[in-house]
Amino acid sequence: MPPRTIEWTGELDGCAKLIDQTKLPRELTFLEIRTSHEMFEAIRRLSVRGAPAIGIAGAMGAVLAIRDFTGSPDELRSEFKIACDHLVSARPTAVNLAWGLDRMRRVARQASTDIEAIKQALLAEAKAIRDEDEAMCRAIGAHGESLIKDGCGVLTHCNAGSLATARFGTALAPVYVAHNNGRPFRVYADETRPLLQGSRLTAWELGQAGIDVTVLCDNMAASLMKSGRIDIVITGADRIAANGDVANKIGTYGVALWAAAHQIPMYVAAPSSTFDFDLEDGRAIPIEHRSEDEIRRGFGSLTAPADVACYCPAFDVTPAGLIRGFITDRGRIDRPSREKIAALLT
Ligand code: MRU
Repeated sequence: MPPRTIEWTGELDGCAKLIDQTKLPRELTFLEIRTSHEMFEAIRRLSVRGAPAIGIAGAMGAVLAIRDFTGSPDELRSEFKIACDHLVSARPTAVNLAWGLDRMRRVARQASTDIEAIKQALLAEAKAIRDEDEAMCRAIGAHGESLIKDGCGVLTHCNAGSLATARFGTALAPVYVAHNNGRPFRVYADETRPLLQGSRLTAWELGQAGIDVTVLCDNMAASLMKSGRIDIVITGADRIAANGDVANKIGTYGVALWAAAHQIPMYVAAPSSTFDFDLEDGRAIPIEHRSEDEIRRGFGSLTAPADVACYCPAFDVTPAGLIRGFITDRGRIDRPSREKIAALLT
């Protein structure tokens, strides 16, 4: 397993320490984040990314916003609210960021009138969010492991592994468990244009774990499916609406359509914190659009005419009807419906 994606080092006077994912796979380096503005920037530029990981990062960023604060409890709460409002705006699609910050806001409202106690309670909550995410990912691995059959080919898109969570990942958690149980299989990782989370991150972390992984460009997935080498698709999710529509990394919808055309089951692995029951369906999920230069100047070199217009959504929405099942920390939902999702998760 790669080292932990994000940690809090020391006590209240410590800092958040995270793997700088923009540097992978060239080098494994860590960033020490000491202010909430630094955390905002780290989330924006994807030094830390993946829905559960940014939920943890946001919570730790909120602690950093007030840990040196001196003043009255009410002043602290108003400072804290400004910081949370800023952090949540870093990335709009993954619900985990807002979910984590909502938990922090609740603690700030309820905690005592003693400034030090409020700060300690907020740090404890941020650490709890991280620990609970690790436990949820372990549970997803246990619930999904039996889907990985001996000798099978697993296609995944983007990175929904250890790097995207506190540890173990969501889509990759069943893969890690199957590997630990000595099962033979191969993972195919979509490269995931334009920021290459699949080839840079998924291939790196699976390689670290000694798991057989093959990278393909996104436009090769349909022909790979047709060749018969893919038995199951497993992806993560950034937000899942009440009816089961799934927002995930751009390209997931296309993968789901191709999988349906080839009768390959498509599973989505996600912790309960990724389900958003406030949204009836996927139409209201906010989709982040990123800088067109991520396409025009891929990793610094000119990959399109310098002034050409580019279409650059970071996520798309896969309709629930294309999803064979959800793998959650509370169990699996096969052939999902609004009712089955609500029964397991609310
Ligand atoms: O833009 P990113 O790299 O944050 O996108 C990440 C994804 O789309 C993941 O599949 C999703 O967050 C699930 S991570 C367990």
